[in-house]
Amino acid sequence: MPKKKKRKEFQALKGMRDLLPPDTAWWDKLIKTGEDLARDFGFQKIETPVIEDAELFIRGTGATTDIVSKQMYFIKTAGGTSLALRPEGTPGVVRAYMENGLASLPQPIKLFYFGPMFRHEQPQAGRWRQFYQFGLEVFGDSGAVLDAQIIQFCFNLFKAVGLKKINIHINSLGCPQCRPAYRRVLLDYYRYRKDRVCPDCKRRLKENPLRLLDCKEEKCQPIKSQAPASVDHLCDECRKHFKEVLEFLDELEIPYFLNSALVRGLDYYTKTIFEIFWEEEGLAPGALGGGGRYDNLVKELGGKPTPAVGVALGLDRIVALMKKEEVKVGSEPNFKVFLVQLGLMGKKKSLKLFEKLHQAGILAAESLSRDSIKAQMKIADKLGVKFALILGQQEALDGTVIIRDMQSGVQETVPQEKVVEELKKRFRK
Ligand code: HAM
Repeated sequence: MPKKKKRKEFQALKGMRDLLPPDTAWWDKLIKTGEDLARDFGFQKIETPVIEDAELFIRGTGATTDIVSKQMYFIKTAGGTSLALRPEGTPGVVRAYMENGLASLPQPIKLFYFGPMFRHEQPQAGRWRQFYQFGLEVFGDSGAVLDAQIIQFCFNLFKAVGLKKINIHINSLGCPQCRPAYRRVLLDYYRYRKDRVCPDCKRRLKENPLRLLDCKEEKCQPIKSQAPASVDHLCDECRKHFKEVLEFLDELEIPYFLNSALVRGLDYYTKTIFEIFWEEEGLAPGALGGGGRYDNLVKELGGKPTPAVGVALGLDRIVALMKKEEVKVGSEPNFKVFLVQLGLMGKKKSLKLFEKLHQAGILAAESLSRDSIKAQMKIADKLGVKFALILGQQEALDGTVIIRDMQSGVQETVPQEKVVEELKKRFRK
């Protein structure tokens, strides 16, 4: 006899998971608050596909970044085209901006999005292979006020979802005019010390010197802490721009921390960059969000020169903090009545009655899968509704329903078509 094949037990892939109740209540609160706030700030929603041409991220996010070189999910189609699961949202939004002629609309264009991103990372606390971002992108305005407004949005959003202890780290990376000179100064500094840095930093020296400042290795810290800062090598325009951003933040009384070691892990940034952290170190793994200005990306991806600035917030990490901080989320719906049914006919009419009540705006709870009246009355009691509506075989045949006042126990039989009217009368009393 052939051996019976063992049935496979399916599991979510490593680094991916289901979002389940009750956690989804925190997710809903965060996303709804984010969307409402974004609209209040004049942003409009955009959605882009989760799969794009891999080249978009190679040229957009940067070929030598960890995100693209180590973490991006590539898909090869049967025809040989290289696609990628988006590791971040910005390049897709830039593509959509160019492809759909958004540049010809009055600028700036302010867009927000929410959705899953994919990075093949080693899963650990706060790090997922499928994770969710809420992002903002503004196109067509180089003003420092927009950098500040994006940070203001983040500050308000965290406050609105009950997370007040956030820290904003900010820096300026300069522009193509001043960055090469800074890069040279940094290279000179590290070249003299290259025997004392970790192997990763030796590689960074060749490939991406700015990333030297991102090193977390213990042995590199003393060298890193003395390294030249980009803010000391900005051209006049970048210095003025950064000063203005900080002045706007001061005006808004938003506290920030000037962090000269902040470089961000994506290639497209110019001028302002920032990251948001939770105040109590160790409680939140990594940044809760990050962003900055990217004035050259639209042009580099084939569009007209268009200044831009944006942010993405890591929702998985923010929800984890909301849970840890026991942020209150929406309470149970405030049910007004409970539908008690008995027998198949009663069940059928109850379902119809539920529809009628719903349309009349009367929130009705039910337990249609239960058959015992006693069990149903117990739930009605627990929910604290004012009235139970009882529909048995007899009522179904007569076209009536019993309205039971849960407090006094008084019952009255009314025609089904009058039940909404009768209830409204009783609620008014
Ligand atoms: P990012 O810093 O790569 O920036 O990601 C933003 C946030 O996404 C991070 O601060 C973190 O909270 C969250 N995040 C990143 N990777 C993971 C992961 N594996 N698991 C959980 N959360 C994660 C960007 O993506 C840019 N597109 C931001 C931007 C928009 N810049 C300008 N516009």
